[in-house]
Amino acid sequence: MNPSRYFALIPAAGIGARLGADVPKQYMPLAGQPMLAHVLTTFAAASVISHVFVVVSADDGYIGELMAAAPHLQGRVSVLFDGGPSRRESVLNGLQAIRPLVGDDDWMLVHDAARPGLTAGLIEHLIETLQDDPVGGLLALPVVDTLKRSDRNARVEQTVERTALWAAQTPQMFRYSLLLRALTLAEAVTDEAGAVELLGLQPRLVEGSPRNFKVTLPHDVALAEMFLKEKS
Ligand code: C5P
Repeated sequence: MNPSRYFALIPAAGIGARLGADVPKQYMPLAGQPMLAHVLTTFAAASVISHVFVVVSADDGYIGELMAAAPHLQGRVSVLFDGGPSRRESVLNGLQAIRPLVGDDDWMLVHDAARPGLTAGLIEHLIETLQDDPVGGLLALPVVDTLKRSDRNARVEQTVERTALWAAQTPQMFRYSLLLRALTLAEAVTDEAGAVELLGLQPRLVEGSPRNFKVTLPHDVALAEMFLKEKS
């Protein structure tokens, strides 16, 4: 029997409206390179990853230039012009497009283009922890702040017990056939784990790192650059 392989799938078909930049968020320059280039470089350099797939929208006008400027990605990264109207649909379309290339038991590591702080060490930690897991799981961080639920007027309605709460990150790592089934059945989920949970399964939480945060708002950009400069 062939051992399972590990593939990366990067949904990068969003526009990132909250950042308010004039290019889609994943192409915003960070420490001299588009945000997405950092993510692709990290996965392409990881020898445990067999191949990297990036899902962009059908009318993406930026990926060609990014790939042309990055010879180290040639042969390691394939571009799929199959993005959908939601993150879930972009991932699902990508999984369907690569069907002939992957086995049912191969692992898919789905990672946001907007988390450029991912490192080789975090990828290895996730894979080492989950490689024999029957379900799969995700990087996540235990919540350290006290959490408040607000009413519509930004007044505290309730303090939420934070014990046992985690903030989900990516990569989220599941076997191909399970992930395809879960995302096909789920409709309104914001991450892969959410879809797998709807099947009645319990993904494992693997402690990630604050540096793997999602770049979302304008003030996140300086912090992301600080982490990226530290890495180089
Ligand atoms: O917008 P947000 O940061 O939540 O997006 C998370 C990831 O999902 C990003 O990498 C984004 O490009 C991707 N996405 C996508 N297709 C969409 C919406 C978001 O691939 N329709």
